[in-house]
Amino acid sequence: MGYIGYRIGLSTKAALRQTGRQVGSLSRSYATTSRAIIYSQYGEPVDMVRPYEHQIESEPKDNQVLLRLLAAPINPADINQIQGVYPRRPAFTTKLGTSEPTVAAGNEGVFEVVKTGSKVTNCKPGDWALPGVSDFGTWRTWAIAESADLNPITEHSNLTPVQAAMVSVNPTTAFQMLREFVDLKPGDWFIQNGANSAVGRAAIQIGRMRGLRSINVVRDRPDFDAMKEELTSLGADHVITEEQAASREFQSTIDSWTQKAPIQLALNCVGGKSATSISRKLAFGGHLVTYGAMSKKPLTMGNGQFIFQNIHAHGYWLSEWARQHPEDKKKLERDILKLISEGKFKTGPVTTNKWTDGQTEEEFGETFKKAMQASLDGSGKQVMVYE
Ligand SMILES: NC(=O)c1ccc[n+]([C@@H]2O[C@H](COP(=O)([O-])OP(=O)(O)OC[C@H]3O[C@@H](n4cnc5c(N)ncnc54)[C@H](OP(=O)(O)O)[C@@H]3O)[C@@H](O)[C@H]2O)c1
Repeated sequence: MGYIGYRIGLSTKAALRQTGRQVGSLSRSYATTSRAIIYSQYGEPVDMVRPYEHQIESEPKDNQVLLRLLAAPINPADINQIQGVYPRRPAFTTKLGTSEPTVAAGNEGVFEVVKTGSKVTNCKPGDWALPGVSDFGTWRTWAIAESADLNPITEHSNLTPVQAAMVSVNPTTAFQMLREFVDLKPGDWFIQNGANSAVGRAAIQIGRMRGLRSINVVRDRPDFDAMKEELTSLGADHVITEEQAASREFQSTIDSWTQKAPIQLALNCVGGKSATSISRKLAFGGHLVTYGAMSKKPLTMGNGQFIFQNIHAHGYWLSEWARQHPEDKKKLERDILKLISEGKFKTGPVTTNKWTDGQTEEEFGETFKKAMQASLDGSGKQVMVYE
């Protein structure tokens, strides 16, 4: 669904792009049909979400911006929010016109700026925009937002929507974790599990750019060699399996790689025994940073690691940093987009799922639910693309 001029029957994004300004100036009675993925209670994600078609104003007022979705990924935290197990819970409201309080889901994505209100100075039609606040509700085709709540991307000629849609959460987290806890110098080592996750792939690449060396743990799989090759091509020095990371015998191999240079930083995406394994690779006084819990198992560490190895265990939550440093977060996003556009940083493999105006509301919802189920099944990163 798209932009609908009630009086003259414009209904497609093409019409909007060609005539948007003119149409906007003709009348105040235009509305845009948006479709959103919403939920009204917590529970099993695929059962909780539903499509919701509604009208929004086509004429942004004052500091408002009319946005059209380009692409939005499905991330683990989005799913955790719908499950009700994520600490940040967006307020349920009737803002979208639902009869009961609901939330427009999705946190990450990129929109195209279609129209701006008379007081907007930070973006213009044709720019792209990332959400500049948490809980934006990115799984919706059209939205009206306050310009202050956006991070406008003026230069996007060398970017694809999928690349831009995936910069806000995972690469930024990797970047921050590599600089916040240990003052790593070129040649220093770090170790991480979940190394093939979007965060892990970003850490490999950012680490390599800084001259850091990395040991990367992934779950064993039939195509381990292909995964190893792929992560190595991103800049990983070594890629090992969880079994190797857990094995005491394998330590001598790691020592031969590092020449017993101290590993001061371990990034933990997984929890459980995997976290124990990587924390055991840390040198005296090393830092374990937990940012994910993909195994859903508690973090386990030996008492001796604290007593005799003086290991420091931290958590990292990007949302908290972004809340405290919103402008730094926006700048970091722009910096990473620049690296992407210069071909220096790659987003990981994704499956794209298309939303089109030709779909019925039900098809729109089913397309999303299939993508969400694939994400829950571990079938790789899913991205919704609105064409
Ligand atoms: N704290 C923060 O600020 C912050 C910010 C961003 C992301 N995160 C968290 O970081 C984690 C990764 O996010 P992402 O978007 O990068 O992930 P992703 O690209 O969707 O990849 C998921 C990763 O988790 C692994 N995994 C899945 N189930 C697992 C299990 N049962 N045991 C061990 N590993 C498992 C996958 O390995 P396989 O390929 O083997 O399935 C893959 O490496 C999530 O927990 C997310 O919430 C946290």
